[in-house]
Amino acid sequence: MVSSTRERLIQYLAESTPTYVSGQWLSEKLDISRTAVWKQIKQLEADGYVFQAIPNKGYRLLNMPDKISSNTLTWGLKTSWLAQQLEHFTSLDSTQDLAKEKARENKPHGYTVVADHQLKGRGRMGRVFESNNPNGLWFSMVLRPNLIPMDAPKLTLVAAVSLVRVIKEMTHLEAEIKWPNDVFIQGKKTAGILTEMQGEQDRINFVVIGIGININQTASDFDQALHARVTSLRLEQNQEIDRRQFLQLFFEQFERDVDHFIQHGFADTKKRFLSDAYKLNQKISLITEAEQREVIYEGISDHGAILIRDGDVLTEHFNASLNWN
Ligand code: BTN
Repeated sequence: MVSSTRERLIQYLAESTPTYVSGQWLSEKLDISRTAVWKQIKQLEADGYVFQAIPNKGYRLLNMPDKISSNTLTWGLKTSWLAQQLEHFTSLDSTQDLAKEKARENKPHGYTVVADHQLKGRGRMGRVFESNNPNGLWFSMVLRPNLIPMDAPKLTLVAAVSLVRVIKEMTHLEAEIKWPNDVFIQGKKTAGILTEMQGEQDRINFVVIGIGININQTASDFDQALHARVTSLRLEQNQEIDRRQFLQLFFEQFERDVDHFIQHGFADTKKRFLSDAYKLNQKISLITEAEQREVIYEGISDHGAILIRDGDVLTEHFNASLNWN
């Protein structure tokens, strides 16, 4: 990827923090004059970057703006593999499609694509996922986990428990997980997860996990018809959220949770899932093409499947395309 002078300047300063970098060194590295370096720094300050400049020592980056870019997202990010390689786009058809394409071109475990606008965001079962709005977070992560293909769907549940933990850390909201892949607040959808895998019978080649989160949307950002079913963190807690901080916390949490799941198995994810599960132990409606049936949602199995009781019969449903309310 070709980076602009501005991006390279930020990168040099970000990588050197907390050490000062001299204007001379930067001008040589960037192949521009020292005055041009100074002009770029002034421009960055106008955009919200904060520097300390000391004569004879140079510049030191102190803070980045809330604005999302590949530099601001990777700066200070405390992960070892997740999102260390990250590409950010203002507009894209779908981060999921690009991440899959890049995975096929051998991008490594943890490679991540983020977009401000998605023009063709997709959800489960080929549904349209409304995400042409920079107030949300839309991103896809490539994982190459050492798991058997049967375990890949559990990664959706791992992502869901990570997401709920970060929402609870950054807000006072009671977020819940609607099995298998939605996050609900006050009965309304706030986030969705899409997990897609490519592999062979006994081996995962890659998994792409795409997540869409409604963060700072206001009511007018949503179609009137969706108001009863969809919400954002901002709408629920009446306060804006720092999207960059949210995403960095999520990357850090999800990396810990994925590593834990791979090393120690599914038990802890299952426990966390059940303590955050939407409508657990309640009557739910199972919707199929043929009928709508009232059943009891009794939990999830050690395989991550939903456990449903219909009278005396308890069944384990694996199919993530199961429709219920
Ligand atoms: C669902 O609700 O069914 C899942 C929604 C997943 C949406 C995310 S947004 C980022 C990534 N890119 C897509 O096109 N889809 C996923």
